[in-house]
Amino acid sequence: MKSPPGPNTPSWLLNLQFEADPFSYMDRISQRYGDIVSVMYDSTPLVYVSHPSGIKQIFNNTKEIAARGALNRSFALLTGNQGILQLDGLQHKHRRKLLMSAFHGTRMQACGQRICELTEKIMSQQAIAKPFVAYPTIEDITLSVGIEVVMGLREGERHNKIKHLFASLFKHELSPLFELLKKLFFWGLNLGRSSPRSDLLQLRQELFQLLSAEVEERRHQADHSRTDILSELVLACDETGEPMTNEEIRDLLISPLGAAQGASATAIAWSLYWIHSLPTVHKRLLAEIDSLGNNPDPMSIVTLPYLSAVCNEALRIYPTQLFAFPRLVESPVEVMGYELNPGTILIANIYSTHQREDLYPSPHQFQPERFLEKQFSPYEFLPFGGGTRSCLGGAFALFEMKLVLATILSRYQLKLVSKQPERPKFGGLLCYPANGVKMLILGQRQHQGHPHEFTADLV
Ligand code: HEM
Repeated sequence: MKSPPGPNTPSWLLNLQFEADPFSYMDRISQRYGDIVSVMYDSTPLVYVSHPSGIKQIFNNTKEIAARGALNRSFALLTGNQGILQLDGLQHKHRRKLLMSAFHGTRMQACGQRICELTEKIMSQQAIAKPFVAYPTIEDITLSVGIEVVMGLREGERHNKIKHLFASLFKHELSPLFELLKKLFFWGLNLGRSSPRSDLLQLRQELFQLLSAEVEERRHQADHSRTDILSELVLACDETGEPMTNEEIRDLLISPLGAAQGASATAIAWSLYWIHSLPTVHKRLLAEIDSLGNNPDPMSIVTLPYLSAVCNEALRIYPTQLFAFPRLVESPVEVMGYELNPGTILIANIYSTHQREDLYPSPHQFQPERFLEKQFSPYEFLPFGGGTRSCLGGAFALFEMKLVLATILSRYQLKLVSKQPERPKFGGLLCYPANGVKMLILGQRQHQGHPHEFTADLV
């Protein structure tokens, strides 16, 4: 059987093309080669899939296709060696379950009010009529939610230091200079204290020490009434029935916190951009939010249909994560009519699937209505990946997105500073707005109108 089609370009040139503009590159290879595209990366075949039936196989054929933690080893620099991304098999399954229990329905309901309060607190620090960049402001909100709500750290010196270190670490990881240096020969060489890597390791070391101190303190003051994720991990046992070490708990905390900060902030910043660049979307969304009256209950905000459609469309058009984590073919398998050999790396291409004209007509246009008119399968709309390594904070991320957006939109009149379209930029793992979405607060907003029943055709 033949291999999937693809370019014969050498790896270094492929890398350059991808780096220059990942979005045009993905559009080009999908248009030219179709739903399944193979490229050679050094001597490893890399296969990108952007058809729902192929995606379904990647997520479900777990006998032949494995979501190996070793493939995510490069993230260990940030997450530690025992982060959820690096684990496999029973250990991975068990620890995923532990982390997921932190995001169940009643837990989320309990923290909705706090998410709205943190949003208000941080937004109120912005001056009226003075331009600001939305991305770092939103990042401040999502990081505060991550540290306080997900991790359960109360305000104080350690809380502030951890927040500062997290923000610096991720800024480092996203900086263009760091990306460039990582690819060049500096990376991996020990250049002493002046190398970019040594700065990163220093920050990581400080963060690890503070997190370990917090874990140790919680262990000694075990409080069964606390319901945050860290308190649960301290009391939980591992898959063999033994308590987890401080390092294991520390590493388990970092990936969810990083995702809670970066991925969620990116999705919210993109949503603010689209809402404010399209007046009809803005008007319809405000009418829906206002229909709930003053100070609505967070649980009624998250069920609003148009708000949900806007969040989905923001995650479709520029998915925060362009690709799911890589999967490894471990025994011969047929995917979409092609025989793939062991050693092949399979990538579920979220971006190109979301750009399919047959699923999403006029895919480059922001049209939330498509999510009101049609229900998409988990292999057609997959911002949170799928299968054994699917995003375990997906439901929480949507919950947070809706509450932060509804709080900002109902309290403030905002506008975009520039009329130029915001371009996507790929950095670290994320697809974030290149200019960070520059905005201006025109003023505080008075509640418009009286509570009324919102119907989907109210435009
Ligand atoms: C809009 C926000 C977010 C997006 C778009 C997103 C997207 C994703 C995607 C695409 C994956 C890979 C799935 C796969 O390979 O099949 C993933 C994994 C993951 N996400 Fe998220 N994520 C978001 C927010 C969050 C939040 C808030 C948390 C936790 C609080 C979180 C925790 C994780 C973890 C721990 C994994 C790895 C799971 C594993 O290895 O088993 N994510 N996410």
